[in-house]
Order: sequence, then C-alpha cells, then structure tokens
Amino acid sequence: CSNKTQQFRQRIVQTFQKAMRETQHNETIDQNHYNVDYKPVFGDSFEEQYYPSTCLVMEAGVRVLRRKDPPFNKLAFGKLFPRQRLFRNIKNIKTCAIVSSAGSLAGSKLGRFIDTHDIVMRFNHAPTQGHEVDVGSKTTIRVVNSQVVTKPEFDFPHAPIFRNVTIAAWDPGKYNGTLEDWLTTADYDLFTNYEIYRRRYPKSRAFLIDPHSVWRLWQSLQMFAGNRPIKRNPPSSGFIGLALLLPHCPQVDFIEYVPSTRLNGRCHYYSKEMNSACTFGSWHPLAAEKLMALDMNMADDMSVFQFGILRIRQPDKLLC
Ligand code: C5P
Repeated sequence: CSNKTQQFRQRIVQTFQKAMRETQHNETIDQNHYNVDYKPVFGDSFEEQYYPSTCLVMEAGVRVLRRKDPPFNKLAFGKLFPRQRLFRNIKNIKTCAIVSSAGSLAGSKLGRFIDTHDIVMRFNHAPTQGHEVDVGSKTTIRVVNSQVVTKPEFDFPHAPIFRNVTIAAWDPGKYNGTLEDWLTTADYDLFTNYEIYRRRYPKSRAFLIDPHSVWRLWQSLQMFAGNRPIKRNPPSSGFIGLALLLPHCPQVDFIEYVPSTRLNGRCHYYSKEMNSACTFGSWHPLAAEKLMALDMNMADDMSVFQFGILRIRQPDKLLC
C-alpha cells in the first residue's frame, strides 16, 4: 500500500511538473490579458532556497476590503463595505478546513471530519445538500469568483446558498491597475450584484477581496517557481482561499486539492462533467499552486494521497 502511495505521489508530482515545463510565454498563444509585466528574478527558485512557502503565502497579504480602506473610504461605493473583520473571535479559531470542489471528493466520506473544524471554507456554488457524507454540511465562508457573482443562473443576490455565510468575492482586475481602475476593468462586473446583496442584507459579512493582494499571491507563486514561468492568469479560488485563511488559522486542512487515489477525471464532485484540466490546470497556474501546497504540507503521504487531506500550519513569525 505504501509503495502504491509512493508511485501515485510520483505520478501526480510529475504531471504538475510537466504542466509547468509546458508553460511558455508565447505572445501569440498566451494573450497576457491581465498585462502582467512581472520580471522573474532568475536564479534559484524559492523552492530550492528552502524559504518556507508558507511565509511566501503569508507575505502576499491576501485580504478583504473594509469600509476604512482607501480609496474606498472616499468613494460612495466604499460605504457598502462591511466595517467588521473577516471573522469574529479569531482567538477561538484553531482548525480550518478548505473543501476544494474536486470530483474526487465523491465517495470520500470525509463529511464528518470536515465538520469538526472551527471554520469550513467552500467555493462558488458548491453544494452540501445531498453530498453531506462526502463534504459535510457546515459552511463558514464561501470564496466566490466574479462570474458566480454576476451570471444570472447563480442568482447571487437571492440564492439561499450565499446567505448566512461569510462571503469573500474576487475579481482580478488588471495586474497593475489601481483600485479605482478596477471598478471599470473587472473581468465581470461583480459590483452591481454585490451592491444589491449588501443593500438587501446590510448585516451580512460579504466582502470583496483586494485584487492587488490576489496579484501579490500570484507573485509569491512565481517566486516559488523561480525561473519556471507560471501562467499569467490569477490563482484559482482554492489557492486564494488558502492565502486568505492562513493568517487567521493555526492549522488548515485542505481537502482533495492535491488529488488522492480517488482521482476520477471529474471536474466537480457535484456534477458529471469530465475535465482533467479542473484538477491539473489549463487557465489558472494550478500546477504551480498545487506543487507549492505540497511544499507547505505537514501531513504524511498516506493522509494526502489516500485520504485526500493536506495539512498546512501557519508559519512561526520568527521563520519568515
Ligand atoms: O471550479 P471551482 O473554481 O468552483 O472550484 C473551486 C476550487 O477548487 C478551484 O478554484 C480549485 O482550487 C479547486 N479545484 C481543484 N480540482 C478540481 C476542481 C476544483 O483543485 N477538480
């Protein structure tokens, strides 16, 4: 069994490494839609320098926008932002679970384990209803992308799945854009539905993620990758969620993000769509994300590749 786990680990890591080797910045194929002009510092990657990846993630400072944050404190739109912090009573937070939406969660029976965590993070419109045995039923926070906030089929302002949970919505804007620019250059205009939602539920903890912090996370990922260029697109919601949560949580269990031997080719546990790109990446720099997540992991291979649980600890401040 341990041999099989080792072989599976190798297969997964090689698949990610191959995907990374294949990323080349060819202007004709790769549109560089976000105008990323980051110049990688050539030399050893951070991976090779043994600088803790958790420090790189913490230093990105992924954060939500609050009412007091400039320039929104001077703009009418900023009045919609919550005054509160992302979580109440952060002193009581000991363990967090991040539930990826991967197809290989199906049949995992991890629901009860997931629900034991103080905070449970989910993504987009990933349901719990009907999937409780595998994914649990507790949801503290949902990280949602701007497509889900915008597209009518998700009905962000009214759908029950987005109620009574903390919301952290994100859109990348442009790489070097100002926050004012973002209001007109967002990939999908998440602002309209965010406003409707906030007016409807003024007491909600619904936040927008600072897009600059999303790109800082991208930079951390590129630093980890060193001279291997990563996709010039924003990180996936899963990785953004990890970076948002880690500063608040001593221990994060990331569920089925690095695929386990349940790997089944399905994109999501809640749909029948077959698409390996959801797991191994095509648009997001997912291969780099998952190699970095593995580098942060403290759990043994059995836990990661048989149970599907990656354990990531907040780094000691002295280490970073
Ligand atoms: O597809 P969606 O973005 O809603 O999924 C939420 C997150 O779960 C993704 O951003 C990604 O980080 C993770 N995921 C994954 N493997 C999949 C599907 C999703 O790692 N097959």
